[in-house]
Amino acid sequence: MVSQIRFLMCAPDHYDVDYVINPWMEGNIHKSSRDRAVEQWNKLYNVIKDHAIVDLVTPQKGWPDMVFSANAGLVLGENVVLSRFLHKERQGEEPYFQQWFENNSFKVYTLPKDLPFEGAGDALLDREGRWLWAGYGFRSELDSHPYLAKWLDIEVISLRLMDERFYHLDTCFCPLANGYLLYYPGAFDSYSNRVIEMRVTPEKRIAIAEADAVNFACNAVNIESIVIMNKASDSLKSRLAEVGFQVIETPLTEFLKAGGAAKCLTLRVTEPVREEVHATTQVESRIIRLEGHLLDAGLINRALDLIVDMGGSFQVLKFNLGEQRQSTSAAEVRVSAPSHEVMEEIISQLIDLGAVDLPQDERDAKLEPVLQAGVAPDDFYVSTIYPTEVRVNGQWLKVENQRMDGAIAISSTANGLVARCKILRDLEIGEQVVVDVQGIRTIRKTESREQRNAQEFSFMSSGVSSERRVELVVEQVAWELRKIRDAGGKVVVTAGPVVIHTGGGEHLSRLIREGYVQGLLGGNAIAVHDIEQNMMGTSLGVDMKRGVAVRGGHRHHLKVINAIRRFGSITKAVDAGVITSGVMYECVKNDVPFVLAGSIRDDGPLPDTQMNLILAQQEYAQIIQGAEMILMLSSMLHSIGVGNMTPAGVKMVCVDINPAVVTKLSDRGSIESVGVVTDVGLFLSLLIQQLDKLTSPYVANVG
Ligand code: ARG
Repeated sequence: MVSQIRFLMCAPDHYDVDYVINPWMEGNIHKSSRDRAVEQWNKLYNVIKDHAIVDLVTPQKGWPDMVFSANAGLVLGENVVLSRFLHKERQGEEPYFQQWFENNSFKVYTLPKDLPFEGAGDALLDREGRWLWAGYGFRSELDSHPYLAKWLDIEVISLRLMDERFYHLDTCFCPLANGYLLYYPGAFDSYSNRVIEMRVTPEKRIAIAEADAVNFACNAVNIESIVIMNKASDSLKSRLAEVGFQVIETPLTEFLKAGGAAKCLTLRVTEPVREEVHATTQVESRIIRLEGHLLDAGLINRALDLIVDMGGSFQVLKFNLGEQRQSTSAAEVRVSAPSHEVMEEIISQLIDLGAVDLPQDERDAKLEPVLQAGVAPDDFYVSTIYPTEVRVNGQWLKVENQRMDGAIAISSTANGLVARCKILRDLEIGEQVVVDVQGIRTIRKTESREQRNAQEFSFMSSGVSSERRVELVVEQVAWELRKIRDAGGKVVVTAGPVVIHTGGGEHLSRLIREGYVQGLLGGNAIAVHDIEQNMMGTSLGVDMKRGVAVRGGHRHHLKVINAIRRFGSITKAVDAGVITSGVMYECVKNDVPFVLAGSIRDDGPLPDTQMNLILAQQEYAQIIQGAEMILMLSSMLHSIGVGNMTPAGVKMVCVDINPAVVTKLSDRGSIESVGVVTDVGLFLSLLIQQLDKLTSPYVANVG
């Protein structure tokens, strides 16, 4: 039986693989056989004709891909949105398709130029007519989706394609009758998969494996209960049969060489309109402004990359390139996202790069009250290490207590409104918390090129340093330590027990003694090992001089703890003359405050170890206040803890033999962080040598 459904096709008279605009075409230039292509196309044509009406558009010489009539445009009812091809190789097809639509009395809508959209290749109607699925990521631009919604008066659901083999939505996605969906989940990003799963119930989803997907099983023509495709595995055929679909296979291998199959070769031109459905789209756009050394600091690339990586798209509206060496550039970028949720994620990252709203778009931050102590409103803005401002009642307030992973709380005080970063547990009922991503900006210093180059000498490189760079970093750190000490500044050290095992204890002791350290953070272990070494000459039972295990030595560890417990604290043990050297000894003698944060594995613990972790975090935060540099020595736990509470601008040097720890800290993205993968004992000894060089008077070697 032939239904009233119509399809548009285009005979392969001029078909060939002439160029490469998708991965399937690679290596296939002029490799398809015209005869076989004609034969395969005719077979498909006849199969479809058995079930529907087929219209033909005249093929045109020089436009070999015109066979893929799915890309002519997107039809709904009387309306058609004409394609705007991304690649010039196909743009010449547009007028021929337009002519055909006009001759057949469709109302043709054309998109603004430079806004690519490739028709029914990238936009597929739900077979029940409830909504339109629209793809983006390779050929069609997200910004075309709101036009589709408006012109076709239908809800548009945007799906992002991630795998370039599936560059058109119809290569990996096929809505079927009765609300079924045949698709290849691997072609989409996780957000889109979630969107699909929310719309289509599990019983209706037919997710296929990669092996079927690369045979273009999703590139199928569905006419009622019939599904026509190039090839399907037995399991896919039976899966479809179970839910009432019959698969008709018709080989289309010659067209696969150009990256198309059954569906691409057809365009359904009768698409029923449902009266009750109307336009909606979740696509949002927003214009942001970026200013600074956009090019040479790589800021613009980072901004544009992150927009795309996170599932959005962009259009650069203005770009004023700074002309002089010192002058900054400014860009205005229109950011689009498939939903508000994705927009929030993108904008919060752009805020970190210093993006701001255009002055006329500036709005107050959205605030929501804390309703339960220690719990933020759902959509709270997560704070970062960068100096932040929020707009309240038309005024920009500087956020105090800047740290990452907190919420921004607004409270009114005697001195007016105050904005502060707070960790969740500290939020109090009655405070207002910043939600969403509106009215928030970070203040990025725009150093001149000279300044940045000068900084490069010290801390510009936030990458992980290779062994060869260790010495260079040591020189820089020594220089900074000297400067900070001489200026009466503050350096904090976080240290793990490895410092002691690797023989770094004596060097760290010296740093403290000579006034380079103003605060020490660690756990129970560093203190116990340090004291053990100084009381017994071993560290965890290993003789530190000879490097061999001492018989029964592991008991030293507990004996030391026990001894300190007897005195009541490390300070008292030092005062009693029980501890006479070492890191902890120097802290006590030089009035350098220390905090030891406890953990589940602590032996003892020492009386000084703070086993209340909330208090330990607070005590850490106090020590960090005002620090200019933090030296993180082989303690992943304490270093990451410290990293989270430290605002941008504080120089952090992370030394660890494990590259993962170093990377984790330099991932803060703060340019002041530098990582060194090396043995911490070695690092400290080099550091001491370098400091000696800097402090010993210059001796000329004459003769
Ligand atoms: N070579 C064509 C292109 O890359 C193939 C188009 C396939 N069409 C489709 N609807 N998927 O544009």
